[in-house]
Amino acid sequence: MWLWLLAGLAFLLLGAFLYWALIITEGAYLGARTVAWTYDLTARRYDDIKQFNPQDDAWLLAGPLLRALRDVDCPLVLDVATGTGRLPLALLDRPSFRGTVIGLDLSRKMLHQARGKMLAHAGRYALLWRDAQHLPFPDGTFDAVCCLEALEFMPSPGRVLDEMVRVLRPGGVMVITNRINWEGKLMPGKAFTADQLRAMLGEIGMAQVEFRPWQVYYDLIWARRGGVPSRLGYGTREVGEILRCPRCGHAPLEERSGHLGCPACGQTYPFERDVVHMA
Ligand SMILES: C[S@@+](CC[C@H](N)C(=O)[O-])C[C@H]1O[C@@H](n2cnc3c(N)ncnc32)[C@H](O)[C@@H]1O
Repeated sequence: MWLWLLAGLAFLLLGAFLYWALIITEGAYLGARTVAWTYDLTARRYDDIKQFNPQDDAWLLAGPLLRALRDVDCPLVLDVATGTGRLPLALLDRPSFRGTVIGLDLSRKMLHQARGKMLAHAGRYALLWRDAQHLPFPDGTFDAVCCLEALEFMPSPGRVLDEMVRVLRPGGVMVITNRINWEGKLMPGKAFTADQLRAMLGEIGMAQVEFRPWQVYYDLIWARRGGVPSRLGYGTREVGEILRCPRCGHAPLEERSGHLGCPACGQTYPFERDVVHMA
């Protein structure tokens, strides 16, 4: 009898653990590849599941971002963990946005969904298949760097924040989300209290940190890197000109037919359906 009870309890605990590890935290504690694999599985249904409202994204994301970048001609924006391209699309759909957006993600299938929606904006975006833990760009490349609803899935959110600040230009804008409420509490080390996040951002040189209303389970945080913003962004450059070779660190890369090549170490990075492979 006791044996059956113990077996039942163990079964329940295992079920609860698997639900937490695979459904609630989406594999976040099982490594970056596991997370990307879960998004590859759901990529086609992602937009239907999320039911984003483009008007909300225009009002809460694109509008404020354009205002924050109003003094920069041709801004270059990086969207880390871009998924199906929600932020790039919100920006590219605005006639007043005259820059370029780079969307980076570790799920190739999410990027293919993004590309399908962004074709009308060809030439004004690039997509990159890559882990956000090591961003393949030289220091101070972007006028704005964003990461929405994704930091908590990274092996080390602090490491990704460091990288985001590194590639941000002085005076540049950062937009991130932080998981909150009971879902945030179930993700220790991946989601933070407002005080913890303020302190983390302060330590890596971010100022003017502002928490804005977003969703029941997410705060939206805006911040600026210290320094004076540059008036001319790199939004007119080709993707090869802003990439740094992940293998040897050389920048820029050369655009050849069907791939990007590193003139220093010879490594090549193929283009497949507009997506640069650097994973
Ligand atoms: C909830 S989705 C958010 C997508 C998009 N930012 C949005 O707001 O719709 C999380 C995304 O993070 C990506 N992701 C998770 N871990 C990653 C990593 N280590 N590097 C790059 N992307 C990652 C997933 O592939 C997925 O597309």
